[in-house]
Amino acid sequence: MNKSDKFNKEIVIMFDSKIYAQRRNKLKKQLKSGIALFLGNEESPMNYRDNPFHFRQDSSFLYFFGLDSPGLAGIVDVDEEKDIIFGNDLDVEDIIWMGDLPKLKDRALEAGVSHTLPYNELDKILKTAISKGKKIHFLPPYRMENTTKLCRLLGLCESMVKTYASEELIKAVVEQRSIKIKAEIDEIEKAHSIAYEMHTTAMKMTKPGIYEYEIAGRIEGIAAAMGGMISFPIILTINGQTLHNHYHGNKLVAGRLLVNDSGAETAMHYASDITRTIPVSGKFTSKQKDIYNIVLDAQESAIKAIKPGYKNKNTHFVAVKKIAKGLTGLGLMKGNTDEAVKAGAHALFMPHGLGHMMGLDVHDMEDVGENYVGYDEKTKRSDQFGLAYLRMAKELEPGHVLTVEPGIYFIPALIDKWKKEKKHLNFINYNKVDQYRDFGGIRIEDNVVVTKTGYRVIGKTIPKTTDDIEAITGTY
Ligand code: GLY
Ligand code: MN
Repeated sequence: MNKSDKFNKEIVIMFDSKIYAQRRNKLKKQLKSGIALFLGNEESPMNYRDNPFHFRQDSSFLYFFGLDSPGLAGIVDVDEEKDIIFGNDLDVEDIIWMGDLPKLKDRALEAGVSHTLPYNELDKILKTAISKGKKIHFLPPYRMENTTKLCRLLGLCESMVKTYASEELIKAVVEQRSIKIKAEIDEIEKAHSIAYEMHTTAMKMTKPGIYEYEIAGRIEGIAAAMGGMISFPIILTINGQTLHNHYHGNKLVAGRLLVNDSGAETAMHYASDITRTIPVSGKFTSKQKDIYNIVLDAQESAIKAIKPGYKNKNTHFVAVKKIAKGLTGLGLMKGNTDEAVKAGAHALFMPHGLGHMMGLDVHDMEDVGENYVGYDEKTKRSDQFGLAYLRMAKELEPGHVLTVEPGIYFIPALIDKWKKEKKHLNFINYNKVDQYRDFGGIRIEDNVVVTKTGYRVIGKTIPKTTDDIEAITGTY
């Protein structure tokens, strides 16, 4: 192993302490008053208390306080200009079973926090603040333990917790976390390089007779073996027409397409999220190639449209118009493309949005509410089928990181429903569509950072053209 290999393998779990301090100071300026409370996550038991799922820290806690272990909470006290981390040092029993950690006060310094208190002091500090009429800002919880904890700490009942979450804090957090600094983009690049290995390995393993779980298991292992973990449960399926298909029990059969939508998180939890579609036999049929190249054209055209000030809703339209036009060329759709897209007829084939923001979460910050992340005063969510699922629609800004992931799917249940309802008869040629009922689906996804002048696709290109995919498929 040479020196540079060794350097690359070093696990880095936190940024410089100054970064966390800057983030909290900015938050104080954004909020103006009150206390922002961030609850870290707890261990989550799989089947009994001492057998937990792999621990995953809350992303906003990671963003402002950086410490990646259970049993922590942090406050940013805007009025007192003070940050405190709450937690308990390990006792000897913890150390015997799970190993030691530096003292909390030393760990907190790594995040630039010089005040720490035992966890049970949190209750007192909050009650005192409340009695003085201070506002406690908190984000909407997504885990039951934290819902319960907030109820207890703030004297709320369960049904009130979501309502009392602070919109001011949500907006401040989204504003900060949406713009990635260079150090964060470097982490996302690292996550992409893990995804590169995952995807090229999957391509090499793809051949008739192998089971989906053999490939899914191997590539999940790659994420772990490269120092991270998967960024979401792997979607790897010959039934890619099911958008989030997590079943991995099928045997690959020649003639099918394998959709692999998977990505990794670095040790610092920054994500990648990539999709490739692979012909099981190693060669695309001409029918598959035609559809594949429509999706590829849609994806590449959408990426090229990305620039600051441009609404991502329009990037979505660039892609779906290419899809509608391509499908019209094949006789699956008909009529005027712009009118078909306006009416939402293309959503029979692509019933999802073009993509989402990505960062410390694969769908970044969706825990605080999708509309706060992807929409704003200038861009309201549509309720049209298909477009309603667009997660990121608002104007793009330098530092945004997003996915671009169009697809074409033949979903028999949806085809039958629309056909029965005689939906969009002037734009859809149902007789032709019926010839594709067993086609499956194709999705192609890359990760893009918005730059000052346009865009940059993150990472080394993972084979994407039909030629490049065919060249690598089944080569193990
Ligand atoms: N990678 C799955 C998704 O973006 O929904
Ligand atoms: Mn995605």
